[in-house]
Amino acid sequence: MSATFNRSKELFNRAQKSIAGGINSGIRKLEQPVPVYFAKGSGPRIWDVDGNESIDYQLGQGALLYGHAPAGLADAISAQAKLGIHWAAQCELEIEVAERIQSMVPSVELVRFNNCATEAVMAAFRLARATTGRSKILRFEGHYHGWGDEGLVGFANPPSTWTDDDELPRTHPSKGIIPEVTDHFILSKWNDAGHLERMVNAHKGEIAAIIFEPALCNTCCIEPVAGFLQKIRELCDRDGILMISDETITGFRFGASCAQGYYGYKPDLSIFGKAIGGGTPFAALGGTKAAMAKIISGESIHAGTLNANPLCLAASKWCLDEIIQRGDKHPAGTIALGKRLMAGLAKIAAKHNIPMRPQGPGLAFHTVVLKPGAAEGLVLNYRDYVTRHDAPRWAHIRLMLLEEGVRAIERGLWSISTTHTDKDIDDTLSRAEIAFARHAAEWKPAA
Ligand SMILES: Cc1ncc(COP(=O)(O)O)c(C=O)c1O
Repeated sequence: MSATFNRSKELFNRAQKSIAGGINSGIRKLEQPVPVYFAKGSGPRIWDVDGNESIDYQLGQGALLYGHAPAGLADAISAQAKLGIHWAAQCELEIEVAERIQSMVPSVELVRFNNCATEAVMAAFRLARATTGRSKILRFEGHYHGWGDEGLVGFANPPSTWTDDDELPRTHPSKGIIPEVTDHFILSKWNDAGHLERMVNAHKGEIAAIIFEPALCNTCCIEPVAGFLQKIRELCDRDGILMISDETITGFRFGASCAQGYYGYKPDLSIFGKAIGGGTPFAALGGTKAAMAKIISGESIHAGTLNANPLCLAASKWCLDEIIQRGDKHPAGTIALGKRLMAGLAKIAAKHNIPMRPQGPGLAFHTVVLKPGAAEGLVLNYRDYVTRHDAPRWAHIRLMLLEEGVRAIERGLWSISTTHTDKDIDDTLSRAEIAFARHAAEWKPAA
């Protein structure tokens, strides 16, 4: 097959004359050999402007849990568009969506809607500070909480900043932020209960909230070790800290009760994005009545012209009904397909002497590629990942896969949709066979 991307290259050249940098979200520039331009999608497959067909595991950065362009979702949006596109006012749909979330996620007694998860995170931080009267947020290295000033503190602390000091650096990858913003964060190590407890003790009385991705999908798909999430809950209860579960990726992908049901914990606040809107710009902040009190009173301001937009609400109602109607089949179906794919990829990689170690729960997973001489075993946190994962080698494998018609996220994450079938997994593995053989023949590590 070995796809070429000439039309995408032409469009990217043209785009750079009218769009800053040629793309509309910084991360899209990472795609090699060029940010790809798409023409249509259907279920688990996507076609680009050069006519290349790919089996898609990027899935709109995970938002397309129900695949590309599901007919029912398209109908729900177009029916609503004929009634009204935007009111900046109330409609019954917003209650219907809120009631569905309430019935699906036990910790959620109340919700507020936003247009993206970055906004919902911003609302959660403000609310936590208003509720506790404290200013600091504890978060974990490698966890992503949106692109705002606050969402990126310590997300990718470079190895040059790592020391033996228990207090971790609070670097920020962007220029132009409010400099003091980093003073209001405390960083900890994912899956290290001892470090977490030391940080909470060292900052007693200062911490408003602890935020985390329950499965660290933005860095290597690292699941929590047994008892870790419960430890966060225990420390929050002990010190009057709000527990914020950022379920932007895991929400509804991990089942109707989200990662909090899957792993068994009860946060005070939750962020839902991506799958809650099936690819429409929709997100929600959910919480207990007590945690949402300062939004109810208006002391913590939450606003937005497009919040609870009827098109997004119609989409979300359809998406949530899909999950409800699947019952126990979700996430069991995506887990089984994902695990089959992980095992198949590992087997083909081994045949070509590629040290690939897929890790994650199946419904999403990451293809770790070990650096020469790196230790075996599950990757457990951000530093472990940076130390052991061979990012340039993965980038080459990802390019080979794309050229052979398999699309994964540039950083190594794969998501499965409810429309993927065993046939798609078989086709993916046949294509991976060719891609991995090409990689093995072509790959030359940097000297
Ligand atoms: C865990 C997590 N939180 C927050 C966000 C921000 O979401 P959005 O891009 O909708 O603003 C993302 C986006 O990928 C995410 O993965």
